[in-house]
Amino acid sequence: MKSVNVAVVGATGAVGNEMRKTLEQRNFPVKNLRLLASKRSVGKKFTFHGEEIPVEELTEDSFQDIQIALFSAGASVSKQYAPLAAAAGAVVIDNSSAFRQEPDIPLVVPEVNPHAIAQYKNRGIIANPNCSTIQMVVALKPIHDVARIKRVIVATYQAVSGTGQKAIDELETQVRQLFNLKPVTPNVYPYQIAFNCLPHIDVFFENGYTKEEMKMYYETKKIMEDDSITVSATCVRVPVFYGHSEAVHMELEKKLTASEVREILSKAPGVIVVDDPSHNLYPLAIEAAGKDEVFVGRIREDLAFENGIAFWVVADNIRKGAALNAVQIAEILLDKYL
Ligand code: A2P
Repeated sequence: MKSVNVAVVGATGAVGNEMRKTLEQRNFPVKNLRLLASKRSVGKKFTFHGEEIPVEELTEDSFQDIQIALFSAGASVSKQYAPLAAAAGAVVIDNSSAFRQEPDIPLVVPEVNPHAIAQYKNRGIIANPNCSTIQMVVALKPIHDVARIKRVIVATYQAVSGTGQKAIDELETQVRQLFNLKPVTPNVYPYQIAFNCLPHIDVFFENGYTKEEMKMYYETKKIMEDDSITVSATCVRVPVFYGHSEAVHMELEKKLTASEVREILSKAPGVIVVDDPSHNLYPLAIEAAGKDEVFVGRIREDLAFENGIAFWVVADNIRKGAALNAVQIAEILLDKYL
C-alpha cells in the first residue's frame, strides 16, 4: 500500500493521543507523522513506531506536503484550520462538530455509510460523527436494513473522557478530594462529577434538549441516510473514565423478535453481542474500554412499542467513538480514493 504524510491536530489531547496510537497499532502506512497542538505544547514529544516525534505549533503553514490530516482540537480550531489544510492539498478527517451538518460534507461511520467517503472531493473534508451517535448507529443499521426503524428513544451514560483530558483529570482529582475529606472544586463541569450524574452535555437549546442530544437526532438521520427516523435522547455524564453506555429503545415498521435481533447483530460488522442474562452477562464500560468493537446486550422486545426492541450498547468513546472511526475512514480513503 502507498504511504502518506499524516498530521494529527490536537495531538496532545485525549483523542489526538489515541489517534497516534491507533495509526501505529493498525500499521497505517504513515511516511511522516506531524504532531500539532497549541504553542503551550511545543517541547513535548511522543513515540511513534519507536521514534520520538516533537509536537509542533499549529500554524497556517502546518499542512505543506500533508495528504491526510486528522483533526481533534475542538470546533473553533477546525473551522479556522481545516479549510486551510484542504486548500494545501490534504484530506481532513475532522472529529469536531464544526462541519457535521453541512450538506456537502460527508459524515461517515465505515460500518454504516462507507460510500459517503467519495464526497470528500466536495471540500476536502470528511466529518467524524459524535461518539454517542457512532456506537448507536453501528448497532441500529443492521436492524434498520431488515425492519426499518421509525423512532428511537435513548438515554446515554457518557464517560468523562469525551470531554477531554481536563475532565479525566477532574474526576480523578475530585475522587481524591472526597476520600481525603477535602472540599470538591468543580471546574470543567458545572457540578461535582465524582459519584454524581449530570443530565447536561454541551449547551442547552430552546427546545429543552442539549446540543449533544440534538447531535444524536441530526447525525443519525444523516449517517443512516433516512430523514424519517426520529431520535429523542437524554444524554447524561457519569463518573466513568472510558466507555459510553446507552439504553436504546426503538419502534420498528416490521416486528422482530429478540432472538432475530440477536442473530442479526451477531453477524453485523464491528458488533459483538454479549447477551446472556442467565449468567449475568451484558456489556460493561470497563470491559469495552480499549476495545475496537461496539458491544450489545440486554436485547429484548420493548413492552412500550407495538414492534419494539430495546438493548444496551457500550463502546470505547475515545476509540470507536472518535480515533478508531477516523482512522478507519482514513484507511478506506487511502485504499479506494487517494
Ligand atoms: P494543547 O495541549 O497544546 O492545549 P482535549 O480535548 O483532550 O482537551 O485536547 C484538546 C487538543 O486540542 C489538545 O491537543 C490541545 O493542545 C489542542 N488545542 C486546543 N486549542 C488549540 C489551538 N488553539 N491550537 C492548536 N491546538 C489546540
